[in-house]
Amino acid sequence: MPLLRLPGLIDPHVHLREPGLTHKEDLFSGTCAALAGGFTTILDMPNSRPPTSTPERLEEKARLAAAKAVCDVGFFVGATNDTPPEVAATAGPQACGLKIYVSETFGSLRIAELGTLAGYFAAWRGPGPIAVHAEDMMLATCLALAELYDQRLHVVHVSLASEIALIRRAKARGVRVTCEVTPHHLYLTEADAARLGAFGQMRPALATEADRQALWDHLDSIDCIATDHAPHTAAEKEGENPPPGVPGLETSLPLMLLVVAGGRLTLDDLVAKMHTNPRRIYGLPEQPDTYIEVDADARYDFPAQGWLTRPGWSPFAGMPARGRVLRVVLRGREVFRDGRVLAGPGAGRVVAPTP
Ligand code: DOR
Ligand code: ZN
Repeated sequence: MPLLRLPGLIDPHVHLREPGLTHKEDLFSGTCAALAGGFTTILDMPNSRPPTSTPERLEEKARLAAAKAVCDVGFFVGATNDTPPEVAATAGPQACGLKIYVSETFGSLRIAELGTLAGYFAAWRGPGPIAVHAEDMMLATCLALAELYDQRLHVVHVSLASEIALIRRAKARGVRVTCEVTPHHLYLTEADAARLGAFGQMRPALATEADRQALWDHLDSIDCIATDHAPHTAAEKEGENPPPGVPGLETSLPLMLLVVAGGRLTLDDLVAKMHTNPRRIYGLPEQPDTYIEVDADARYDFPAQGWLTRPGWSPFAGMPARGRVLRVVLRGREVFRDGRVLAGPGAGRVVAPTP
């Protein structure tokens, strides 16, 4: 069995749900799922309850993570409509970036007014980038603001052909923009959404086959693969107003190894998009003596159950997978082996960008 050793992977887009929504996921269950997926660092989004919108709330999350996480965790500070942008900016050194929801999302963090949005672009001092959920026309607004306010922009979960085209054009003109794509937008379309019902609903929604194809055609312009791990319980998904989002931490690497096996990505590309680029974009510290061991030849279909993420379901159940994480070593310590997390709560550290 060919044993593949890779650096600890980094997922720069995860919703850990603590505080406030821990019935969906918490800092322990979410980081266990991360290790099972081969991730040793994950970045947590701010749409928890309350949202991570001030330095105090970020400190509170960091305190919880230091006690509960089993892999390293960094945090975004989030833009809101009722916090002065300067307050969020003071969290800059502790936050990995500023997250702005410009498009519709789960929770109440959407910034819908240009004055507020521009205020955040004016106030942010880094060192991390401004990460935007900006779909369709909103992407053009954010690209323009990044230029006007000389900000580094990271576009999360690109899903449309028109979006990747715009990002390519911006890159070609020297705009400081990077982007990420989720495995679900690479693999699934609106046809799968129809098949999966609420379990295939997320923001951005699954798009057309032509959109999906455009992402594949321009993989070289995509800096990171990020899961947008957005856990909601099966009961919530089956309920009257299903929240958008799907879990992804435990399926991302096998889906990307399938791409490598098919010859559309090299292993070096995979490491660039799942380790080197997210580390560079977010200025994350190196993790010494940290690596994962993968049975790269394992072929199987994703199971319907047995996941470590709290909701315990996956939109990829029944679909082909390639490769299995056998072992994870974090700072010289074996923290995961053969499907079991060996580390106790608190083995993970809180990370912040190195200025
Ligand atoms: O599908 C999504 N779920 N998209 C988002 O932007 C938020 C996320 C969540 O937090 O559930
Ligand atoms: Zn998200």
